[in-house]
Amino acid sequence: MTYEMILTSTQGPDSRKVGIVTLNRPKQLNALNDQLMDELASALKAFDADESIGCIILTGSEKAFAAGADIGAMAQYGFADVYGKDYITRNWEQIRDIRKPVIAAVSGFALGGGCELTMMCDFIIAADNAKFGQPEIKLGIIPGAGGTQRLPRAVGKSKAMDLALTGRMMDANEAERAGLVSRVVPLDKLMDEALGAALMICSYGQLAVMAAKESINRAFESGLSDGVMFERRLFHALFATSDQKEGMDAFVNKRKPAFTHR
Ligand code: CAA
Repeated sequence: MTYEMILTSTQGPDSRKVGIVTLNRPKQLNALNDQLMDELASALKAFDADESIGCIILTGSEKAFAAGADIGAMAQYGFADVYGKDYITRNWEQIRDIRKPVIAAVSGFALGGGCELTMMCDFIIAADNAKFGQPEIKLGIIPGAGGTQRLPRAVGKSKAMDLALTGRMMDANEAERAGLVSRVVPLDKLMDEALGAALMICSYGQLAVMAAKESINRAFESGLSDGVMFERRLFHALFATSDQKEGMDAFVNKRKPAFTHR
C-alpha cells in the first residue's frame, strides 16, 4: 500500500529494527481522517507482521502529534454517517490488535483523537513542548475514540473530568506527574530517547516482550484475580521458550544473552 498521509521508515540493525510511523498532514496539524487512520492501521499491521521489527514508534511533527479528528470532515457528518457508516472512528481499535510494543513519541499538540491515539499506544514519551487535552466539549461533542475510558484509567477521575469538561490542555510536565506520560525530554532529544527505548526493547526476547505487553493490557480489562492468573499462565508459558533458557543461562554465566525470539 502506498501512503499519502503517513511516512514509514526503519532504524537499527537489519536483524532487529524499529519501525517508525510518522503522521504527515502538517498543514492540518495531523488531523486524523479516515484515510489517515486506514493508512496507519495498515502500516502498523505490516510492521507487526515483519519478523525483523521488534518495536514500533508512532510520532508526528514538532508542532503537532495530532490535533484531533478532522473537524472539517466531521462538520459534514450526521448520525447516519458516524453511526450508520461508522465514519471517523471505524478502524481505531485495530491499533489495539498490534502485538509488538508501540511507543508514542509526542511533541506539540495531542488533542482529542490525537490524545486518544497516544493512549492506545503502550507508553508515551513526550517532548517538553507537548500538550495533551480532550477539547471535544468545545465542539458540542465528547471524546469518541476511548478518551472517557482510557484517560481516567491513566490520570484518575478528577483530572480526566477536569480535562474533558473544561477542554483545557495540560503540558508535558503535568501529564508526567499525572501518569499519562512515562518520560519528558527536551524537544531535540525526543526521537533519540524514543529510539533508545525502542532499541532496548528490540534487544530482548520478542515472546517475553509480547507477553509483558499483553499481560499489562489485561490489567485494564479484568479484575485483579483474573489478571494475576492471566499473568501467571503467560509467565509459565515463557518457560517453554528458548529465550528463557538463554536469558537465565547468560545471567548465570555472566555473559550477554543472544535471544532468538523462539
Ligand atoms: N481538524 C481539522 N483541521 C485542523 C484541526 C482538526 N482537529 N486542528 C487544526 N486544524 C487546522 C486548522 O483548521 C488550520 O488550518 P488552516 O491553516 O487551513 O486554517 C491548521 O490546522 C492550523 O491550525 P490553527 O491555525 O488553529 O493553529 P493554532 O496554532 O492557532 O492552534 C490548535 C492549534 C490549538 C491545535 C487549534 O488548531 C485547535 O484547537 N484545533 C482543534 C483541536 C480539537 O478540537 N480537537 C478535537 C477534535 S474532535 C475529536 O478528536 C473527536 C474524537 O474524539 C475522535
